[in-house]
Amino acid sequence: MIDETLEFKAFEVSEIAGDDAPAFSGRLVQRSVRELPKGDVLVRVSWSSLNYKDALSANGNRGVTRTYPHTPGIDASGIVACSEDSAFQPGDHVLVTGYDLGMNTSGGFSQYIRIPSHWLVRLPEAMSLRHSMVLGTAGLTAALCVEKLLNNGLRPEQGDVLVTGATGGVGSIAVALLSQLGFCVTACTGKPQQAAYLSLLGARAIVSRAELVDSSTRPLLKERWAAAVDVAGGDLLWNILRSLQYGGSVAACGLAGSPALQASVFPFILRHVNLLGVDSVTTNHEHRCSLWQKLASEWRITQLESISKTINFSQLDYELKVMLEGGAVGRRVLDVNA
Ligand SMILES: NC(=O)c1ccc[n+]([C@@H]2O[C@H](COP(=O)([O-])OP(=O)(O)OC[C@H]3O[C@@H](n4cnc5c(N)ncnc54)[C@H](OP(=O)(O)O)[C@@H]3O)[C@@H](O)[C@H]2O)c1
Repeated sequence: MIDETLEFKAFEVSEIAGDDAPAFSGRLVQRSVRELPKGDVLVRVSWSSLNYKDALSANGNRGVTRTYPHTPGIDASGIVACSEDSAFQPGDHVLVTGYDLGMNTSGGFSQYIRIPSHWLVRLPEAMSLRHSMVLGTAGLTAALCVEKLLNNGLRPEQGDVLVTGATGGVGSIAVALLSQLGFCVTACTGKPQQAAYLSLLGARAIVSRAELVDSSTRPLLKERWAAAVDVAGGDLLWNILRSLQYGGSVAACGLAGSPALQASVFPFILRHVNLLGVDSVTTNHEHRCSLWQKLASEWRITQLESISKTINFSQLDYELKVMLEGGAVGRRVLDVNA
């Protein structure tokens, strides 16, 4: 039985009255277990991580979080403290990504979370709690993108694979994973100064975003990419569609550039290309467990340490702002007990 009066630390974002528009500000607060939402498992959090959606939530984006004060954090890993579901016992090592965590359910930027048991994934044996959060939602999403491209028939001999937002979380892991699987990866970035980082992850070539955007209205461009992982959306996605090789595919998972997509059907009906949607939030449980196992074994990424930096609560505000401005490089893992 858990003591509902147990107190712990959490990062809480509140709305503060601004002169014009409302402003949002985060601070460390003391909370008690009884203030957490209902759920059948209480988890003592060890690690969380930063994702673009957390930056939106911390900035008052109502499409992500409807009411404040709120604790963001769409990812968490830790140890079961108490469970009403016999499938989990106190002491079990678990992780959770997506569902409603950190959106309208108090999230992982906290020393405790209480959630429905079906959101939990048992930590693979060969993976540490920290390792799981270096991957987090970004890692699961990158793996889903790569898996979808492979299921669609992609093979290394078909040619170059493009990854956009390559220095960000999803992008960094997609570059590393595809390179490890033997693909020739071109990294598209807005940060040419990070060329050494991208080469370390395995990128064979680097292109700027501007280089990929052709402002003409031509329905098709030169066939360039066998496939792509796109986190940007908008113009960049349209230009990728126009530049795919005959029969090529793009796995689209993000909107870092824009949620809009102005396109024509020509690449689909003349080049036989595929636009593959990817969602990691509600991926079914069996599928997500199998991908986590894969990320712990044959898809284990060797350069994880180069991708990640550990931060504590006092650095959260700053890191979330950097992320919102498109400045993120690699993954930030939050040690909630530091
Ligand atoms: N579908 C899903 O389930 C799912 C899951 C996770 C994330 N996402 C989405 O995927 C995107 C990336 O997430 P993340 O967590 O990897 O974020 P992140 O770590 O903040 O990385 C985003 C990266 O996108 C690039 N970027 C920034 N502004 C851009 C612009 N205007 N045009 C093109 N690229 C831009 C930047 O990389 P460069 O400077 O290297 O270009 C930036 O580092 C977000 O839109 C997020 O919402 C979707």
